[in-house]
Amino acid sequence: MYCGAVEFVCSPSAVSHIPVLLDECMGFLRPEQGGAFADLTFGGGGHSRKILDANEENVLMAMDCDPDAGKRAEEMALKYGDRFRFVDSAFQNLDRSSSPEEFDGILLDLGISSFQLSQASKGFSFRLDAPIDMRLDPREGMSAAEFLETASRESLVRAVRDYGEEKRWFKVVNAILDARGTGELQRTLSAANLVAKAVGGVRARQRIHPATKTFQGIRIAINGELESLATVLPKAFHSLKVGGVLAVISFHSLEDRIVKRFMRKMSGRPEHRGDKSFMDERVCVAEMIKSKAIFPSKNEVLSNPKSRSARLRLLRKKSSPRFL
Ligand SMILES: C[S@@+](CC[C@H](N)C(=O)[O-])C[C@H]1O[C@@H](n2cnc3c(N)ncnc32)[C@H](O)[C@@H]1O
Repeated sequence: MYCGAVEFVCSPSAVSHIPVLLDECMGFLRPEQGGAFADLTFGGGGHSRKILDANEENVLMAMDCDPDAGKRAEEMALKYGDRFRFVDSAFQNLDRSSSPEEFDGILLDLGISSFQLSQASKGFSFRLDAPIDMRLDPREGMSAAEFLETASRESLVRAVRDYGEEKRWFKVVNAILDARGTGELQRTLSAANLVAKAVGGVRARQRIHPATKTFQGIRIAINGELESLATVLPKAFHSLKVGGVLAVISFHSLEDRIVKRFMRKMSGRPEHRGDKSFMDERVCVAEMIKSKAIFPSKNEVLSNPKSRSARLRLLRKKSSPRFL
């Protein structure tokens, strides 16, 4: 029997999303001082609301590529009027809807929201039977079912082994390839059962469902999440004012590595251990506000178990680079 209690799922109307590392983000973005902000991952608007409520002069641009987030944003627009602007777009298009040096603070809270996880039709959850879709923006790209049926072995390995960090990736990939054309890869429950069987079934006292890692890897792959992150970081930096703060919450070690390397590069530090570049070859246009990531407190993890793998990194812009 599966004994974990990590993810809950209930009827979408009863769901809310608890914003992660909220106080920590506000402590560094300092919205009470007033300014222009961007929340590039609006979700349920938890962080956006806190920023707008902190000072009645604040203005905020929110982005999300999930059309349902856009519907939630309509309520915010009614409440905050001209101070709130929602852009229905992927954040990697940030440069199309913002100007250079527009914002005092920019937030990215990566991944998916509880709204998305709990809505069966989005096909993210192995607890709710539905077509396995997993697109953040269902208007674009390939569904997870299509990916599982058609991707090359190499792409499946990247998704399951690298993005999912599934130790038994070899068995999972083979099981996926064997199941092609049988219908098993079409729905969340049948795909989850297939993965569980491939990794050796569900063990008692297991903290997470055996399909968790594979599902995460597939989601990251079909949405191009790592590529989007690498694209948005320089654009976000470009649209920050000098003195402005970029705050990024990530949930996956590969995401965090991209964020950490970008922030180190901007602040003139070696990007990684193998970086042999000389100090005078590096740009130094920012400072890392903390050299280490900030993690949720024990209390936060207890009250919101989904926050357990979150980490926050922060960068303050010192000057505008001529190029990135
Ligand atoms: C963890 S949720 C954000 C929750 C939000 N901070 C809150 O407190 O309600 C992440 C959101 O980012 C959105 N998202 C993820 N990748 C995106 C991208 N490339 N472009 C735009 N939105 C994206 C997802 O659709 C999701 O709504």
